[in-house]
This record gives sequence, structure tokens and C-alpha cells, in this order.
Amino acid sequence: MKGIILAGGSGTRLYPATLGCSKQLLSVYDKPMIYYPLSILLLLNIKEILIISTKKDFSLFQHLFGTGEDLGVRFTYLIQEKPRGIADAFLIGEEFIGNDKVCLILGDNLFYGDSLKKTLRQAVSFDDGAVVFGYPVEDPRPFGVIEFDENQNVISIEEKPKNPKSNFIVPGLYFYDNDVVKISKTLECSKRGELEISSVNEAYLKNKKLKVKLFEEDVVWQDTGTHKELLNASIFVRKMQQEGRFVGCLEEIAYENGFITKEKLLELAKKMEKTEYGQHILNIAK
Ligand code: TTP
Repeated sequence: MKGIILAGGSGTRLYPATLGCSKQLLSVYDKPMIYYPLSILLLLNIKEILIISTKKDFSLFQHLFGTGEDLGVRFTYLIQEKPRGIADAFLIGEEFIGNDKVCLILGDNLFYGDSLKKTLRQAVSFDDGAVVFGYPVEDPRPFGVIEFDENQNVISIEEKPKNPKSNFIVPGLYFYDNDVVKISKTLECSKRGELEISSVNEAYLKNKKLKVKLFEEDVVWQDTGTHKELLNASIFVRKMQQEGRFVGCLEEIAYENGFITKEKLLELAKKMEKTEYGQHILNIAK
């Protein structure tokens, strides 16, 4: 399975913080936002990862992660010329995806929980079709909202509805078989001018090929697209890390997966030894 992080967009809800800087490079407590979605792809043992960003920010991501060698993975970088919508990722990434299945994660989404690894690794073992998640939120209106029938079967997924049919939304983590490229090519732009990911999910649903899974209760999902959400996410990460539970520690996961050696881990930790993050990695290496 290939992995894509969609890290473009306009970031207008984070102005003026994003006027001169990519949203996904802003700090969420002690690390760039993009570390969190990347940590999820690593947890899934995905080694081939495409980062899609804007023309302006493209080289910053290359500077941050390089080839991926330090983490034992391979990064490809591509540009999204305009924020044409989330499903555009499959058109931009067509060649990268090749004949594989693909996991798409949004560059501003944070997932954390003890049961997460188990749930995700189960989700990833699907044969065909698509797997997305349902997550309950207080105000579902800004998201893709899931409608269930009385037997908890999914009937529809509606993008940003005025009158949501449930409190369950689809967070920014999606698994698709290779048909996703073909399906994305058939989409037309919505009224707001985007290729909607909810339309992709609706297409799978229509073909009875969409599975919607729920996380266990310990799993936390946070969108970090507004100032309030960004601060809340930072507070959450700080709280976890004060309890000794590191969130989004890429080097730790790469080492646990066997992607990098202990020597490499030590080398990476040394660069950051003045920080709690670096000390945490040093402790693991020792
Ligand atoms: P959004 O938060 O919906 O959009 P945005 O980042 O442009 O921000 P704003 O609404 O504040 O202007 O995007 C969710 C994620 O998907 C985010 O990581 C950016 C990414 N994205 C793209 O890379 N390209 C796109 O065309 C869209 C719509 C989103």
C-alpha cells in the first residue's frame, strides 16, 4: 500500500499565521503539524509516501524530510497547482499510486490512542473497496457527515450539510483500492469548485464497497485547521507527553518498525538532544 499526505490548501482559517508559512509546518506543541499524519502512515508500515503541497511550500517539505532515508522510507514530492479539492490527490498521484492500494491522510489531522495501531492495521487488511472511519463530533456541519439506518448501515455521506443526519463525520484518513484513481477521474467540481472526497466515498457506497469503521473510545481525533483547534491540539500533545506518552514521534516508530538501526536512531537523537523530544529518542536508543 502507498501513502499520500495532502499538505497543500490555502490555510485561510489560520491567517495571519499562514500568510508566510505552510499550515502543515506550523508547530503543534513541539513538532511540525505534518509529523502527526506522517506518524500514522509509519504506524501502518507504509514506506512509499507522497507529499502533496503547494508550489510555494514544496521545497520546504523537501528540506524538512529529504529523501526519507533518515526514517527508512521513500518520499516523493508533488505540487498541487490550485486547491482543487481532496480527491485531486488521486489525480496528482496517479503515477505514484501505480497499481497499488492507497491510504490518504490530510496534513492537518491528528489521531492518537492506545488502540489506534490495532484498529488501523485491521482496517488496512481489506481486499477491495474502501475503508473510512466514523468519528462523533459536537458540530458535524463543517465535515462529511454519515447517515445510518436503524441497523447502523451507512445510507449516505453528505458534505457540509446544513441539517446533519448524525453526529458522525468522516475524519481525514481514507483507504482505497486502485479504483480510486478511475473514480476520481469521473468527478466534477462541486459548487465550491472542489473535487470532493465525499463524492469518492459516495461512489464506493453506491457500489456497496464502502466500509465505515469506528475507533475504540480511547482514540482522539483532532483537526488543526483553526487557531482554537491548533492550540487545543498543542495542549493535548503536551499533556500526553508530560505523562510520558509521545505523540507523533517519527524516529521511534521507524525504529520499532525496523526501518532504521539503533545507530541511526542515536544519530538522529543527538541532533535534538536539547529538547524533550530528542531526550525521548535517546532513551529509546539506550
Ligand atoms: P482544509 O482545512 O479544508 O482547507 P485549507 O487547508 O485550504 O484551509 P482553509 O479552509 O483554512 O483555507 O483542508 C484540509 C487538508 O487538506 C489540509 O491539510 C489542506 C489539504 N488540502 C489540500 O492540500 N488541497 C486541497 O485542495 C484541499 C481542499 C485541502
